[in-house]
Amino acid sequence: MDHLSSAPPTAVRLTRYTKSEQAEILGEGADPFGVADAGLTWLPKEEHFGVRLEGRLVAHTGLLRVPVSVGGAEAEVVGVGGVAVAADVRGRGLARLVMTAALGHARTMGPRHGLLFCRPPLVPLYRRLGWQVLEQDVRVEQREGPVIMPLRTMWTPLREGAQWPAGGVRLLSYPM
Ligand SMILES: CC(C)(COP(=O)(O)OP(=O)(O)OC[C@H]1O[C@@H](n2cnc3c(N)ncnc32)[C@H](O)[C@@H]1OP(=O)(O)O)[C@@H](O)C(=O)NCCC(=O)NCCS
Repeated sequence: MDHLSSAPPTAVRLTRYTKSEQAEILGEGADPFGVADAGLTWLPKEEHFGVRLEGRLVAHTGLLRVPVSVGGAEAEVVGVGGVAVAADVRGRGLARLVMTAALGHARTMGPRHGLLFCRPPLVPLYRRLGWQVLEQDVRVEQREGPVIMPLRTMWTPLREGAQWPAGGVRLLSYPM
């Protein structure tokens, strides 16, 4: 048996993640995340984690530190985005694997919370991965000024016991 193909997959930090790496995972479709309807402008991520199976990139999670205002107090959160697994290898725990690696790194970045935006059908999956829904409107920056995020907002603690603080939430950047 081939040792490489039988080894359990591991997540690694990626040194590059461009349109072509995203296409390697999700194909060339116009709206692979299903969020085009929201009409938002998004930020690219700065740190990237991935999983390769037999040399092929099949999973990704990106991280980006972003400024927020919560109850009028400014802080930073680690934004999580670009979570993607190739269609033919979904349902095998690869999103969990790559998210676990990304959050392990996020815990070293400083902010107390991770934040992500997702379509409503993905809420149960992210709950399973330790995320909680923020049940309030979240404003995010767009070119024309702040808008209410139409997707669901979820957060996860990056420090033991961290709670989400009370008060209005505004992302002081484009969403990630
Ligand atoms: C969303 C996506 C990344 C999930 O990838 P995946 O590899 O199939 O996910 P996993 O197999 O790691 O599943 C993660 C966990 O969620 C659970 N899960 C999956 N679907 C679920 C559902 N509908 N309800 C509850 N839990 C669910 C899994 O059982 C697993 O939990 P476990 O490890 O405790 O068993 C993948 O479907 C994808 O790339 N979709 C297209 C791109 C996209 O929409 N990305 C999200 C942008 S926010």
